[in-house]
Amino acid sequence: MKTIIANWKMNLGVRESVAQARGVLRILQGKEVLPTIVLCPSFTALAEVRKVTVRSHVELGAQNVGPNHAGAYTGEVSAQQLEDVGAHYVIIGHSERRTRFHEDDGLISDRLTATFAAGLTPILCVGEDAATRERGEHEAFVAAQVMRAFRGVDVSNRAQVIIAYEPIWAIGTGTSAEPADVLAMHRIIREAAASLKLSDRLHVVYGGSVDGTNAYRFLREPEVDGVLVGGASLKIHEFEGIVGAACDVIAAQQL
Ligand code: PGA
Repeated sequence: MKTIIANWKMNLGVRESVAQARGVLRILQGKEVLPTIVLCPSFTALAEVRKVTVRSHVELGAQNVGPNHAGAYTGEVSAQQLEDVGAHYVIIGHSERRTRFHEDDGLISDRLTATFAAGLTPILCVGEDAATRERGEHEAFVAAQVMRAFRGVDVSNRAQVIIAYEPIWAIGTGTSAEPADVLAMHRIIREAAASLKLSDRLHVVYGGSVDGTNAYRFLREPEVDGVLVGGASLKIHEFEGIVGAACDVIAAQQL
């Protein structure tokens, strides 16, 4: 199965999010084999987007989650509250949160713990910056990111886990990684996850300037379980191309 995750970031209001979700449902009409599609609007639009997706195959995800269960945490949104609004997925540790909002590994671990406790599927983002890759340290860096994120996290509830390999230099730049590099990094991530006993329910996806034109090059690889899409998920024709590529790959696998 392939998973397409749309990260709309802080771009759409409620009405725009609803319109975008309706557009996504329209492009799925008539398709017999579908990837898993996860739409991640802003918190403010989750409830309304849920109304659009509720009787469809489309899943709802959030872009972040508070690390605490409930209580005096002004401004936070808990995993239970996300579950309550119908979100089953949550993006954790996106590089924009790590760099702009100084999220460290301890906080990311706490977010993972809260996510598992509520029975949601985490989409943990990892990835190196350009300087780390130039130094040849990207493999060790990403493996360490995975290990640190899961340090102390109880993963025994058998929940699904998605790890998104998102090299920072490829996000929003129009320059995606090469499929061969993505495959190499996915292998590193799976090796790291094996020692955490996650392997049988781990999905590894790629993110970073995925669009309607290049999506097939990633999705056709059996080791790439899907894509995490930012900018192109806001353009319905690009998103249609990405969904179409996933449908082509799934149909070919079934032959
Ligand atoms: P992009 O963003 O597709 O615009 O590169 C991906 C992401 O930030 O998740």
